[in-house]
Amino acid sequence: MAIISSKQDPNQPNKQRSDTVKRDRPLSQPLLKPEVTAEEKEPQEDSIRPHRFADYIGQKELKEVLNIAIKAALGRNETLDHLLLYGPPGLGKTTMSLILAAEMGVDCKITSAPALERPRDIVGLLNSLKPGDVLFIDEIHRLSRMTEEILYPAMEDFRLDITIGKGSSAKTRSLPLPKYTLVGATTRVGALSSPLRDRFGLIQRLRFYAHDELTLIVLRTAQLLQTSITNDGAEEIARRSRGTPRIANRLLKRVRDYAQVKNAGIIDQSIASVALELFQVDPCGLDWTDRQMLSVMIEQFNGGPVGLETMAAATGEDTQTIEEVYEPYLMQIGYLNRTPRGRVASAAAYKHLGFTPPNQQLSLL
Ligand code: ADE
Repeated sequence: MAIISSKQDPNQPNKQRSDTVKRDRPLSQPLLKPEVTAEEKEPQEDSIRPHRFADYIGQKELKEVLNIAIKAALGRNETLDHLLLYGPPGLGKTTMSLILAAEMGVDCKITSAPALERPRDIVGLLNSLKPGDVLFIDEIHRLSRMTEEILYPAMEDFRLDITIGKGSSAKTRSLPLPKYTLVGATTRVGALSSPLRDRFGLIQRLRFYAHDELTLIVLRTAQLLQTSITNDGAEEIARRSRGTPRIANRLLKRVRDYAQVKNAGIIDQSIASVALELFQVDPCGLDWTDRQMLSVMIEQFNGGPVGLETMAAATGEDTQTIEEVYEPYLMQIGYLNRTPRGRVASAAAYKHLGFTPPNQQLSLL
């Protein structure tokens, strides 16, 4: 990445930019979006997921907390408390839920809030549970009001309250449910209503993965995919994966395609970096939208503060995607700060894009 520094008027928008931000917007750039793609919904994807805690790399503290909860529940012959997992997408909330069920020796039913729009959807699911089962609800902050109200007694008292009929002749019936564990997953814990949040016995956060953890994940997945890769090849992919295993595995598959088509053989650092440059994933894992967001802040707003709506208008992304997908990683690597007055680009972001940071501009005058 070119780093340009020269004298600049700090009151003028910074005109220098690296050529990476000048590129036209690619037609689609799904490689670094942590949401699940169609390919990742295929059953064979299951073969690269870890199935037990012993195979799960990273999230050390969370694994410790859950291991204790599991051992205690098994020791008392009880079900596990309801668990809320929150954090950015792609960090392994579904995988963690499947592992929990496997460690408890029970089944896990997987659904997501948008699939539970009508009350009968959740009633059907709850009725199908066996004692001890895990019910995983993704995007739980998006539950409809009616579904949420059915869940309250179903979580607290393992009871299904259903209303039969309408108006003055309506009757409520209460049906017992087997004891089960609800695992809710969300990227927006603050968007959950407090009655729902309060019904979870355990509330745990998933964190971005460290570089060495992602490297191990890439090496493990490469082995399962029977792909040859060197340690530095895995490190290169890990470095560009935004702290997110789903992205690391996705990048590995694209680099594997590249190596195969170019007859490049074993994936080493140089093959990984050439392939990822081709896919426009930069050495920090930033894509076109990340760079566009930062360069708009720097060039048009002198680095900020800039409001979220303005950023959305400038990049063509919706505010929710910016808040939940782009900003958490940019904040994690120290390129962006959220302040009460808006978003602010850091000196590191200026340097990464080839701009002179404002404090250095003063000293250059
Ligand atoms: N694949 C995706 N996430 C993983 C993890 N945390 N550990 C091992 N393999 C993975």
